[in-house]
Amino acid sequence: MLPFRSVLLFGLILCLVCRFPEGQKSLNFLLFRKIVTDHNSKYISLYDAAISQDYTTINITLNLARNITADIWLKATIGQRVSKHGESYRDVFTYNVNLCQVMGRGKGNSLINFWLNNILRQSNMPRNCPLKEGNYFMRNIRSEKETIPRFIRSGSFRIDSNVYVRDWHSVNLTETIFYVDIKMK
Ligand SMILES: *[C@@H]1O[C@H](CO)[C@@H](O)[C@H](O)[C@H]1NC(C)=O
Ligand SMILES: *[C@@H]1O[C@H](CO)[C@@H](O)[C@H](O)[C@H]1NC(C)=O
Ligand SMILES: *[C@@H]1O[C@H](CO)[C@@H](O)[C@H](O)[C@H]1NC(C)=O
Repeated sequence: MLPFRSVLLFGLILCLVCRFPEGQKSLNFLLFRKIVTDHNSKYISLYDAAISQDYTTINITLNLARNITADIWLKATIGQRVSKHGESYRDVFTYNVNLCQVMGRGKGNSLINFWLNNILRQSNMPRNCPLKEGNYFMRNIRSEKETIPRFIRSGSFRIDSNVYVRDWHSVNLTETIFYVDIKMK
């Protein structure tokens, strides 16, 4: 009777212990495999992203040729690759946010705030709007565990993002497609 009960108890504890990390999945790594950029040359003279050799960080250069006097918006669609060897992606979710409002709010613990802080940490970008013409950089952008939505599973992803000006007939300023590999532990 006693051995049976202790086995049961042991199993119960083991189960509690093993279930806990499952609910608390955290980021093991995020690698930037490829970044494809495009920009609207009416507003931007240079837009470029470079990936470090170990795929963990990126630098972005943005030369803004004009003042952007209306709010800028970001639309990002995240898709997960459906098969290991194909290039087709299933959209998981889409974000559409007013970046001027998010930057203005400053601190917050939404996902978009974590990413903004991440991106602007080593940057000369202003944290408020309107954005003035000028040459901007964002350096050593890397993912932190807070920047990945909790429901994301390990795999390959495509993040298709546009920065646009809604009040100017939604004109696109930049388009960036990030191909990333995510490993959760
Ligand atoms: C990013 O910029 C930093 C600082 O200038 C530099 O040390 C690093 O090599 C750059 N990384 C890439 C991928 O260009
Ligand atoms: C852009 O904004 C700055 C500061 O507000 C101003 O000095 C400059 O004249 C503006 N440039 C243009 C082309 O309007
Ligand atoms: C901006 O880019 C997106 C994605 O490439 C596209 O669907 C949209 O039509 C573009 N908007 C305009 C106003 O061209």
